[in-house]
Amino acid sequence: MLNLNKLFKEIKIDIKKTKTIVELDQIKIKYLGKKGILTEYIKNLKNFSCIDKKKYSIIINQKKQEIIKNIKQHSQYLTEMILETRIKKEKIDVSLPGRRCNNGCLHPITQTMNYIKNFFFTLGFQSINGLEIEDEYHNFDALNIPKNHPARNSHDTFWFDSNRLLRTHTSNMQIRIMKSEKPPIRCIFPGKVYRHDYDITHTPMFHQIEGLIVDKNITFSNLKWIIYNFLYYFFGKKVSIQFRPSYFPFTTPSAEVDIINQDTLQTLEILGCGMVHPNVLTNVNIDPNIYSACAFGIGVERMTMLRYEIYDIRSFFDNDLRFLNQFKYN
Ligand code: PHE
Repeated sequence: MLNLNKLFKEIKIDIKKTKTIVELDQIKIKYLGKKGILTEYIKNLKNFSCIDKKKYSIIINQKKQEIIKNIKQHSQYLTEMILETRIKKEKIDVSLPGRRCNNGCLHPITQTMNYIKNFFFTLGFQSINGLEIEDEYHNFDALNIPKNHPARNSHDTFWFDSNRLLRTHTSNMQIRIMKSEKPPIRCIFPGKVYRHDYDITHTPMFHQIEGLIVDKNITFSNLKWIIYNFLYYFFGKKVSIQFRPSYFPFTTPSAEVDIINQDTLQTLEILGCGMVHPNVLTNVNIDPNIYSACAFGIGVERMTMLRYEIYDIRSFFDNDLRFLNQFKYN
């Protein structure tokens, strides 16, 4: 009995001493667990006489309940204490400014591409993305670009090997689509193109949107109508432009379109266009005596620069947030 009383006292002290829930759990296991000290006592009762067994089991069980209650109370006390010290330690300054989530926006070039695409969608054009790695046939040969053309020179074209290259224009898609689809065709091909060039008006990678119409009776006036209307849509007002006769091996006649600054009379080239060359149509098995086609290639960076009065094309690709943040829509 003496031993028992001593044990109960010890247990109570042990419980009080614990400072964390983990410690308290350990104490619980130490005394009340399967192999706990008190459990051993209860197991030992079987060696007692019948009367003693009854007497002690009542005492031990009573005490056991008491201990369980003790543990519960202490656990509650600990939980409250822990919370209280946490609250004391973690002060919240409600006057601090909130943490803002900074929203990004589409890149200005993407915005311009989407804007241009929308114009052509309303005219019933279909938009098709092409591959950026191309072969010599689709980028040059099929487009009637002679073997000795300066553009094939390694100064302008990024070659992977003697056949594969990074496409230098989106005109490769003219070939791919005319080979896979039958006329009538009315498509635009937006995408990245690559040339070995770097200054305030050139970057080695830039964007073009190519347009292609193949049908019976397509003429230069169809091409002009589309370009006039496109530019009116794009700038939101009439701008003065000129069709300047030019040369592309894959179109004839060919022209480049310049925007004329009315104050300085300076011109800036924004796109190349023309009637698709009969040789090109023949290359893709379209009979040039039945069908005719017109095509144009718009420089997306140039258009964006004009629209927002940006002077250095390289600002598009510096990833300077001070520049990019200006294109957030409100
Ligand atoms: N591919 C030409 C270029 O990159 C542009 C162009 C497209 C010209 C279609 C005529 C017709 O400059």
